[in-house]
Amino acid sequence: MRKIILAGNWKMYKTQAEALEFLEGFKPNAEDAPENREVVLCVPFTALSDLSKNLHGSRIRLGAQNIHWEEAGAYTGEISGPMLTEIGVRYVIIGHSERRQYFGETDETVNLRLKAAQKYGLIPILCVGETKEQRAANETESHILGQLEKDLVDIDQTQLVIAYEPIWAIGTGETCEPDEANRVIGLIRSKLDNKEVTIQYGGSVKPDNIDELMAQPEIDGVLVGGASLTPDSWGKIVNYR
Ligand code: G3P
Repeated sequence: MRKIILAGNWKMYKTQAEALEFLEGFKPNAEDAPENREVVLCVPFTALSDLSKNLHGSRIRLGAQNIHWEEAGAYTGEISGPMLTEIGVRYVIIGHSERRQYFGETDETVNLRLKAAQKYGLIPILCVGETKEQRAANETESHILGQLEKDLVDIDQTQLVIAYEPIWAIGTGETCEPDEANRVIGLIRSKLDNKEVTIQYGGSVKPDNIDELMAQPEIDGVLVGGASLTPDSWGKIVNYR
């Protein structure tokens, strides 16, 4: 049985105070969601510690948005695995297209970060996806398979989540049609050694398209940006039909 994981990616939104205020509104919604759904919030580093204390005893799991591959060292601006696990973080997003696009993340550094996450007992959420141009040129499959081939070298596929995020659908309101997302996710699964890996869809997921997305046989969850920022919309998403 593949695990259903619904994860919010707050990106660079919410101060500590705003994050705690969000939880007040969201916690009751999360507690209502069926038990077989894992609910995760991937928040800015500065909010992790306070949220971790606040979430003690709650079913909501905490995630970070990046991890460095060394345990410690002269790496200004980076955060290591032990720093995350010490405060109760369980998941970490790796290789998001925004990190690949704006911060020079490559498949090689993605692979190093994946290894580090697993070494320290964190579950990585690996993001892959194609640009609008690649999709138009029929390069979706070759691009994504190329990413997976490099990103997953020597990675334990039993401790892994993958998020298929078509870049053209992120923050644009333009959702990938559920059957197209299902087809690409099926393709990703066909290339994995472990067919039980949870594979999420991400890109303009909203309360009004979550039911249709989750009804697809290959889609095991979602990674949500904008709509995870308010207790109302995120509450509706985690309580999809
Ligand atoms: O990681 C989630 C993401 O990139 C999708 O963002 O705002 O389109 O849901 P959004």
